[in-house]
Amino acid sequence: MRQGITDNHHSESTGNTTALNSVQKAAIELGINLEALPSHIAIIMDGNGRWAKKRGFARLLGHREGYKTLRSILLAASELGVKYLTVYAFSAENWRRPEDEVAGLMKLIETAARDELRAMHQNNVRVCVAGRKEQIPLGLRKALEHGIETTKDNTGITFTLAVNYGGRAEIVDAVKSLITENVPAEQITEDLISQHLYNPNHPEPDLMIRTAGEMRWSNFLIWQSAYCELFVTEVPWPEFSSKQLLEAVSTFQQRTRKFGAVVE
Ligand code: FPP
Repeated sequence: MRQGITDNHHSESTGNTTALNSVQKAAIELGINLEALPSHIAIIMDGNGRWAKKRGFARLLGHREGYKTLRSILLAASELGVKYLTVYAFSAENWRRPEDEVAGLMKLIETAARDELRAMHQNNVRVCVAGRKEQIPLGLRKALEHGIETTKDNTGITFTLAVNYGGRAEIVDAVKSLITENVPAEQITEDLISQHLYNPNHPEPDLMIRTAGEMRWSNFLIWQSAYCELFVTEVPWPEFSSKQLLEAVSTFQQRTRKFGAVVE
């Protein structure tokens, strides 16, 4: 069997002591504190197209390489001990891309969802989706729903695919559901809006990584990332590896999070 998205490389337990896996060992060598990891990492996987163009390949080939990267980063994040990983697979604005790229991306995500499900389930990964599901093509939607249902009781890393996702659309959808529930205006609080987002039980991201150098949010988790730390790398997504993941976590741990307060 070819290597799946999270084929088992987990730390081996020997009696009461748990041996560290290779990702954790590399993290410790970089001075990362395994007790203070970001519990939720969000990633804007950018640069697939530029990576392909630079090599004279079709853009879709860049996305295929991006899929390979995603598989290894999910594994690395899980081994490191990150509890939530959310990735921007297809934005609500990505429909504006050429038709063949959109169709190719949908097919790629569907194939990935089907092919990786077994390995993810075996490795205790819980799959979630963020985005407007109704507009996702039926084949992909069914594959995602099957993945969510199959893994819903898993207790390992929660892996959320943002598909047909827009941060503003998510806020609009939350407001609509509040109105549908007849919630009076004076009862609307930030907490209540948070509780009406696509995945209300997920903690807010602590760290957002963007590859390929652009300094923007691109409408990703804009409500939830109000206080998250940003890490932007020039490395395009197809070349991103656990080395850069650890660099991002290490940088995160060197930041002082203030949440608007004064920290002496
Ligand atoms: C941005 O690169 C990337 C995307 C719009 C799609 C991300 C998709 C993948 C990584 C493919 C695999 C995903 C799954 C879930 C299997 P870009 O095309 O905007 O790059 P560019 O800015 O260089 O053109």
